[in-house]
Amino acid sequence: MSEQEVMVDSTKAPPCTIVIFGASGDLTRRKLIPALYSLGCGDRLSKATQVVGVARTDMSDEAFRENLLAGVEAHGRQQACLPWDTFSGQLSYVSGWYDEAETYARLKRKLDQLDETAGTQNNRLFYLSTPPALYPIIIEQLGQAGLNESASGWTRIIVEKPFGRDLASSNLLDEQIHAVFRERQVYRIDHYLGKETVQNLLTFRFANTIFELMWNRNYVDHVQISMTESVGVEHRAGYYDQAGVVRDMFQNHLLQLLTLVAMEPPVAFNSKEVRDEKVKVLQTIRPPEPSEGVWGQYIGYRQEENIVKNSETPTYMALKLYIDNWRWKGVPFYVRTGKSLAKKTTEVTLQFKQVPHLLFLDNEDVTANRLSLFIQPNEGMHLNFETKIPGVGMRTKSASMEFDYEDLFGTDVLPDAYERLLLDAIQGDSSLFARSDEIERAWELVDPILRAWEQGRAPSLAFYYPGTWGPSEADRMIHDDQRLWLTHCEDQGKGG
Ligand code: BG6
Repeated sequence: MSEQEVMVDSTKAPPCTIVIFGASGDLTRRKLIPALYSLGCGDRLSKATQVVGVARTDMSDEAFRENLLAGVEAHGRQQACLPWDTFSGQLSYVSGWYDEAETYARLKRKLDQLDETAGTQNNRLFYLSTPPALYPIIIEQLGQAGLNESASGWTRIIVEKPFGRDLASSNLLDEQIHAVFRERQVYRIDHYLGKETVQNLLTFRFANTIFELMWNRNYVDHVQISMTESVGVEHRAGYYDQAGVVRDMFQNHLLQLLTLVAMEPPVAFNSKEVRDEKVKVLQTIRPPEPSEGVWGQYIGYRQEENIVKNSETPTYMALKLYIDNWRWKGVPFYVRTGKSLAKKTTEVTLQFKQVPHLLFLDNEDVTANRLSLFIQPNEGMHLNFETKIPGVGMRTKSASMEFDYEDLFGTDVLPDAYERLLLDAIQGDSSLFARSDEIERAWELVDPILRAWEQGRAPSLAFYYPGTWGPSEADRMIHDDQRLWLTHCEDQGKGG
């Protein structure tokens, strides 16, 4: 089995040095270091693991560690489970400009020294957590410094999204990466794939007999995927106003989730086969008609700090997609995502078809079965079915069979997505990372939507109040098909 196909089951990682570019930034403090700390608590990392932060800010190792301790205290899933001094002894810092060869020469000396003193065995994992505009220069400099491969160990690079801002820039980024690293060294991170409940979709579908039988156009009326957030743009206005919802959520997280819901069973559970099947889904999604989508912006967005005053950036989108293959022909996938909405939730719902013939005439309104997978929060799943109301007649009522992660496994058992993904990258398992052709197919789908939007061929912005479920146009879109947004109606107590 090649490195590319490996699906590692071991829970402990080999020794290595993790080099984080953009180490003084938010992602390092809020996500990466807390994730590594949790892995340390669970004894998942080798004791020899070292973390080297690289950034422009001039800072001592001590100041770097203090900043990270504050991050772990504020954002860590686990606290004080490992003496901070033990963990922080594995953290060090190199300051320097990303475009100066001297920075990489210093870094190389540091890495060689750690190989000798800490036993990191020449294994290196680079993590790009800087603004994306810096990726090309960092990659080029790593190549020039000879840091793209190591004599006796392995070298890998994790690239954070966004991977470009359209098809052309994404292809260019790929060329720049491939000029220095081989594809099997590249780990493109989409943190949604690290979420336990997203991975459970695969277990749910392929480790059970009963669901997969119904998972197709013969039984499913339509599918809904909602990724809603209650927060606005927060402190990321500069990035978000340039990106918008299509680039920020749809091109990556939403399409990734959709591929897992819709894909065929892979012939084996390894990175090649799983990703091959995901690519096929992306290839068979019919290019959506932009004029039929809904683009929204929350009221107050233009007044947020650092947002252009007459910004036309959408913060919400709803679309109807079709997957033109045997399994899904004719089944609409309604997807929506947005900021400043009523609730944070990520849900996938399969609405099954109505029974073919209704026997119980007392009940004209039998609710069709529905399966909802709650990715976050309240991770779990609900299966709605009809049951007889006790007493005379044959009236029915909807009941729900519920599975809740917390009930079965206890609280605080779900690792943060970054824990899983960092561990996988250290172990050389790229199954939960996006391959270059996946990214390319996703952009091929998204590019025409963005162009239509930018050239005014899509409906104009629909405004919505923060704290609502988005613009009424999105309700109209689904009502026109005699359907309802399900999260939405459950919220109003009409879920049955
Ligand atoms: C990020 C987006 O990738 O995902 C953010 O850039 C978004 O805008 C975030 O808020 C949502 O992630 P999660 O894990 O909080 O659902």
